[in-house]
Amino acid sequence: MKNLTQTAGPIGIFDSGYGGLTILSKIREQLPDYDYIYLGDNARAPYGTRSFDVVYKYTLECVERLFAMGCRLVILACNTASAKALRSIQQHDLPRIDPDRRVLGIIRPTVEALGRKTRNRHVGLLATPGTVQSQSYPLEIKKLYPDIQLSSEACPMWVPLIENNEYNNEGADYFIRKNLRSLLAADPRIDTLILGCTHYPILEAKIRRLLPAAITLLTQGAITARSLEDYLRRHPEMDARCTKQGSCRYLTTESVEKFSQSASVFLKEEIRAEQLDWDSPH
Ligand code: DGL
Repeated sequence: MKNLTQTAGPIGIFDSGYGGLTILSKIREQLPDYDYIYLGDNARAPYGTRSFDVVYKYTLECVERLFAMGCRLVILACNTASAKALRSIQQHDLPRIDPDRRVLGIIRPTVEALGRKTRNRHVGLLATPGTVQSQSYPLEIKKLYPDIQLSSEACPMWVPLIENNEYNNEGADYFIRKNLRSLLAADPRIDTLILGCTHYPILEAKIRRLLPAAITLLTQGAITARSLEDYLRRHPEMDARCTKQGSCRYLTTESVEKFSQSASVFLKEEIRAEQLDWDSPH
């Protein structure tokens, strides 16, 4: 590992593509003073249909890049990476790379919030095939709230439709309707639905229109932002290692033009992305 000598640096936010921007924007609203580096591995997205080993390998490579750029703390703003790579990185890689660095995921804070939201304890999960297969949500729910009954629906088409900017046409509506119907058929009593992929908030208005009004939609941006704020309050030693100049850099492994354009849709502001250079420490 190169360049792990700085004592403080930006907070790294990682996703396979654009989805993590929905988390980043809420984090920046909540914690505007901190510096951030966003990394989207768009060249290799989507991760949702890839194997455990591949998601782990890609996620670790990206986390190591963020560390090399000075990040002491990295948030996996991606359910698929949180489900398939977080535990291995925390248990096997961090002790080897640098035991003082931290990588946090977004499944645990989502489940904590879920327990406070559902009234009848019937909940649904919409996520990538990878997140659903990993069983991370049912396992975490069982640990924290064994009384909650979870039904899951894998939505393999949703991320490709979003990454390719095709989510606003009728073809997209077909797949969204199909997955929602199938989930509600599995458990018609669902009162709270987790949008368990950070890309999905871009479909929130559409999903909202197709669901009965009584169902609460749980998105992860504000939940993750509050959880990060709480984490930094409880860990002043990590807070001291996060620089605070209010800056944000955006890096992508794909085309800078495409990323800058699509990212503007997610963030509702113009941004200028940079190409990730795998060979340079900065
Ligand atoms: N945004 C990622 C998530 O939260 C998944 C996207 C992908 O399939 O690459 O699961």
